[in-house]
Amino acid sequence: MSLLKQIDTARLPSHIAIIMDGNGRWARQRGMDRIFGHQQGVKALREIIEASAELKIKFLTVYAFSTENWGRPDEEVSALMGIMVQSLNKETDTLIKNNIRLTAIGDTERLASDVKERLLETINVTSDATGLNLVVAMSYSSRWEITEAAKRIGAEISRGSVDPGSVNEFNFEKYLTTHGVPAPELMIRTSGEMRISNFLLWQLAYTELYFTEILWPDFGKVELYKAIIEFQKRERRFGKTSEQLLDK
Ligand code: IPE
Ligand code: IPE
Ligand code: MG
Repeated sequence: MSLLKQIDTARLPSHIAIIMDGNGRWARQRGMDRIFGHQQGVKALREIIEASAELKIKFLTVYAFSTENWGRPDEEVSALMGIMVQSLNKETDTLIKNNIRLTAIGDTERLASDVKERLLETINVTSDATGLNLVVAMSYSSRWEITEAAKRIGAEISRGSVDPGSVNEFNFEKYLTTHGVPAPELMIRTSGEMRISNFLLWQLAYTELYFTEILWPDFGKVELYKAIIEFQKRERRFGKTSEQLLDK
């Protein structure tokens, strides 16, 4: 049976988050520059966006550039920014055609004005789309996001518009950049690294984690199907017992 047919379409994750890792190693293995790996990584992303849209996944969040990635060599940072602008130039029409809505999370204020403007333009022109929600984490880190949320709550408390006693995990969530987006049910990280690297720390509290040795440029539809099939074998207990889940 094909892998696609093994997927139970009634139990698909509504939100998949991906740490797209391993571009540099992929290129190095071929004696190429790391930048070439990032260019190939865009092709993998294109395929995964297409597969997610075909499966009717509602949300796909991809980690494209972390706060810590600003510390990479200048040439690599500017190449990554260039790839971002080029990809948006090239793919915006395809996003519109396929009813895909783009949003971004992260400290976009740190982006150079041309990158920021290009990103905001695509966000604007896709804002009415009702199909896949593609969330790009750009200049993002979770500690930054949670700290920003704490600052905003603090400011509201000092203005007197929020009572500190009323802050709880449900209304705290409203201050996160992912407000309105359900927590991911499945988080995939490629390249064999078994860490979260400052990605969605709050949102991943009960997410099923899937790690694969495949380097991001080699991650295609079949790899996505494998991850979903593995996800569907997991029992998500949320702190309860298996028996309690059966009783429902
Ligand atoms: C992921 O690939 C892309 C970004 C972090 C921007 P890497 O560039 O981290 O590739 P490796 O991990 O060095 O192989
Ligand atoms: C995480 O990958 C960030 C992105 C994929 C954008 P990194 O390659 O930067 O993470 P570390 O350094 O291996 O933890
Ligand atoms: Mg990496």
